[in-house]
Amino acid sequence: AVRDQMRLASGILWPIPITLDVSPEFAKDVRAGEEIVLRDREGVALAIMTVADAWEPDKRLEAVAVFGCDDEAHPAVRYLMHHAGPVYLGGPLQGLEAPTHYDFRHLRDTPAELRARFRKLGWRRVIAFQTRNPMHRAHQELTFRAAQMAEANLLIHPVVGMTKPGDVDHYTRVRCYERLLPHYPEQTTTLSLLPLAMRMAGPREAVWHGIIRKNYGCTHLIVGRDHAGPGKRSDGTPFYGEYEAQELFRRHEDEIGVSMVPFHALVYAHDRAQYVQQDEIQTGETVLDISGTELRRRLREGLDIPDWFSFPDVIDELRRTHPPR
Ligand code: ADX
Repeated sequence: AVRDQMRLASGILWPIPITLDVSPEFAKDVRAGEEIVLRDREGVALAIMTVADAWEPDKRLEAVAVFGCDDEAHPAVRYLMHHAGPVYLGGPLQGLEAPTHYDFRHLRDTPAELRARFRKLGWRRVIAFQTRNPMHRAHQELTFRAAQMAEANLLIHPVVGMTKPGDVDHYTRVRCYERLLPHYPEQTTTLSLLPLAMRMAGPREAVWHGIIRKNYGCTHLIVGRDHAGPGKRSDGTPFYGEYEAQELFRRHEDEIGVSMVPFHALVYAHDRAQYVQQDEIQTGETVLDISGTELRRRLREGLDIPDWFSFPDVIDELRRTHPPR
């Protein structure tokens, strides 16, 4: 039951808590009603918080409520247990300025900027693609088909904040996305970077992704197989069901205000020479796939990566930052 509690005290749907965690030393000197300044790494003041509460959270309870378990094989559970400070501060915030990013400035938009861009382009229906990985042919097919089905323009909206440990760095990924753009029909697709710290919270994260995309002016969101999946538990079983994110999203779709475009796993059907959804594969049909681990091995050893799997210009970009050992 605790997993369905995804609301703020006001009743607003909000599946992932965002907390201000501090050290006991810092908390010791802060009194209720006092103002504290939130700064970025360079010391730029971003916001002022008037502290209303300071408390020690029960992190295990938080982990179970938000991530469905306290298994430290889950990267966000691990972060919560070992990196987040033991005291949380709460209170009203006054924003001073948004964090400044110095890389890929031409690809960064605030929600208001992106909404204005869509208005200017006359894009009334926009489907967002959430991703934290380089995009290969399956992802191009998936996004292209989803946009056609929704009769919408496509926003490639990759996360460039913290993602899953071991992911390809965002500099490389952004160059890959830029190489992919010419593979869509002209004027149909755009790219913008999302400075989000992912939690890999699967179903809850999908709902969160929907709310975020609503703010950026999107009308649709693609949710595929194992959306925002954190990998396997310590005992080798998956944390969430492959399509659990779709199920939770569907239950809250009206309230989120973004339509989900669900997809089954897209796989390459060798004999048909095309990508199809896994549930449409006939018995006896040959299916080809290259896992993330296998792709990294081929990059490391300088081995062939076939054209059915990815676009050569995307692979060139990956090889540049992953030269063979
Ligand atoms: S995620 O953590 O951002 O979800 P990823 O970048 O791998 O990871 O996936 C982005 C989106 O594409 C998710 O909605 C995911 O379910 C979907 N997706 C990725 N690969 C496939 C695939 N082969 N078939 C179906 N959906 C996929």
